[in-house]
Amino acid sequence: MATILVTGGAGYIGSHTVIELANAGYDPVIFDNFCNSKPAVLARINKICGKNIPFVCGDIRSREQLEQAFNNYKIDGVINFAGLKAVGESVKKPLEYYDNNVNGARVLLDVMKEHKCYNFIFSSSATVYGEPDSVPLTEESPVKRANCPYGQTKVDIEYMCQELQKAVPEFSMVLLRYFNPVGAHKSGLIGEDPRGIPNNLMPYLTQVAVGRLPYLNIFGNDYPTPDGTCVRDYIHVVDLAKGHVAALNHCLNMPGTHIYNLGTGVGYSVLDMVKAFSKAIGRELPYRFAPRRAGDVVQCYSDATKAKKELGWSATLSLDDMTADSYNWQKNNPNGYED
Ligand code: NAD
Ligand code: UFG
Repeated sequence: MATILVTGGAGYIGSHTVIELANAGYDPVIFDNFCNSKPAVLARINKICGKNIPFVCGDIRSREQLEQAFNNYKIDGVINFAGLKAVGESVKKPLEYYDNNVNGARVLLDVMKEHKCYNFIFSSSATVYGEPDSVPLTEESPVKRANCPYGQTKVDIEYMCQELQKAVPEFSMVLLRYFNPVGAHKSGLIGEDPRGIPNNLMPYLTQVAVGRLPYLNIFGNDYPTPDGTCVRDYIHVVDLAKGHVAALNHCLNMPGTHIYNLGTGVGYSVLDMVKAFSKAIGRELPYRFAPRRAGDVVQCYSDATKAKKELGWSATLSLDDMTADSYNWQKNNPNGYED
């Protein structure tokens, strides 16, 4: 079966996707520079897969390091997870975000073109829809100028991919717009391991649950939603990983630009998440209401029908799975991957 280079494959979504690729019979090759992950993840991936997954240490901005992967393996396609993703940090370091994300994707696509490797899957985000005019969001909903450099790199890379596909029509460009990935592999061996205090809701909740943080700050309770807190489409990372396999199965060697939302189609509020998490751990999780966080959209959830119809994929894991698996990971690894 096909060999897939998974750039950023040591990261949160990448590591889960490598496992689902191997389960589905693909041959993944991990490529990562560990700028936001730890080498310890590799042994865990191998343990879950029951075999050694090849690894190349490199930066997607380095043509030489990419060449090493392309010369050593016959790569049929690339899934590009490699990118910086912290919204707040991107405001302070816009050039680093443009260099790593946009320039990195440019170098990667150029090396692919040279090697006549035309299958590309890109980790995009629902952030490209900005503040939605209406929900649920379909793939036809307007893409808007982002409110932070991180989000804009996603908009710009999507545009670059679409233009390259027009110029080099052999390319199959798959733009996957993720909603909010949470949860962890059932084994509890791999999961999300953010550096420092988490920016995102689920890792923050899990750290409160294991006592690393005292309580959750809920950013805003006066939004125009049923309970006043923001609404998101949380999707289990294993469902998301399987979405990549479905996208590969369908789009491999199918020239064109293919855009899919990867979400569940259901929106939950921050308070819904706190309640679900409290249920998973069997006690009330402490929280306080805090002022709104700048840049948060009120509601963001997907219309997931296109992926279901065309890829035959839909999310199957429940909110209870998401909270239980996140907690299981954090409980087994209170300090994440300790190298
Ligand atoms: P992550 O930080 O856990 O994983 C990214 C991986 O890429 C890390 O292992 C990091 O070391 C590596 N990396 C970064 N820059 C690199 C470079 N220049 N060369 C080689 N490796 C590099 O993040 P994640 O949550 O797994 O996200 C993966 C992708 O999905 C990112 O592009 C992110 O923007 C996108 N995405 C994530 C979310 C989310 O909420 N997690 C939502 C939408 C989109
Ligand atoms: N929230 C809190 N307290 C916290 C953290 C988050 O109340 O400590 C709230 C936020 O205000 C928001 C909701 O929880 O209402 C979700 O916030 P996250 O930071 O977990 O997720 P976002 O929807 O803001 O952003 C995420 C990723 C982005 C991505 C976007 C859309 O971080 O990279 O989803 O895919 F672009």
